[in-house]
Amino acid sequence: MTIFSTSVRVVTGLAVAVLLSIQLVQPERTNPQSDPRLAFEAIANPPHQVASSLRKACGDCHSNETRWPWYSRISPVSWLVVKDVREGRAHFNLSTWSQRETGQESPETQELCAEVKAGKMPPRAYASLHPSSKLSPSELAALCAFSFAEPVVTGQ
Ligand code: HEC
Repeated sequence: MTIFSTSVRVVTGLAVAVLLSIQLVQPERTNPQSDPRLAFEAIANPPHQVASSLRKACGDCHSNETRWPWYSRISPVSWLVVKDVREGRAHFNLSTWSQRETGQESPETQELCAEVKAGKMPPRAYASLHPSSKLSPSELAALCAFSFAEPVVTGQ
C-alpha cells in the first residue's frame, strides 16, 4: 500500500468519524403550542389567499408550525435550519401575531410585501429547495394590497 492511499484512508476515516460524531450535537427542533386566537388569521383578518400564501411561503420559518424537512435532522445542516427558524420567528411569527410588538424587530405588514418584492424572502436557498414557496404574481399583488390597507396595530 502506498503512502498516498494510506493517507487517503486516514483522511476519509477521520472525515467519517467527524461527520458521525457531530450527529450527536442536535439542536432542538421545536413547534411550540400556540393559541389560534393569537394567530395572524385571527388578529389581522386577512383574505384567505393572503393567509394561505404567507403560511405556504413563510410559515416554515415565521410560524410555530414548521414542517421540519428530513435534512433538518442531519448535522451540520440541522444547525443552519434551526438557526433560520429561530431568527425567523424572532422577527415575526404568524402563530403569535398579537404578540409581535414584544419582538425586538417586528416588521409592519408592509415589510412582508417589500421583502418578497425585493426577492429577499423567502431566502434563496430555501426557495430553491421549495419551489412551491414562490408566490405567484396574483398572490404577491394580494399580499401587497392587504399589507398597505391594513391599519398599523399599536399596543396589544
Ligand atoms: C428559510 C427560512 C425563512 C423563510 C421561508 C422566510 N423567512 Fe423571512 N426571515 C428569515 C430569517 C432567518 C430572518 C432574519 C434574518 C434576515 O433578515 O435575513 C428573516 C427576516 C424576515 C423579515 C425581517 C427583515 C428585516 O430586515 O427586518 C421579514 C419582513 C421577513 N423575513 C419576511 C418573510 C416573508 C414575507 C416570507 C415568505 C414570503 C419569509 N420571510 C420567509 C427566514 C425565513
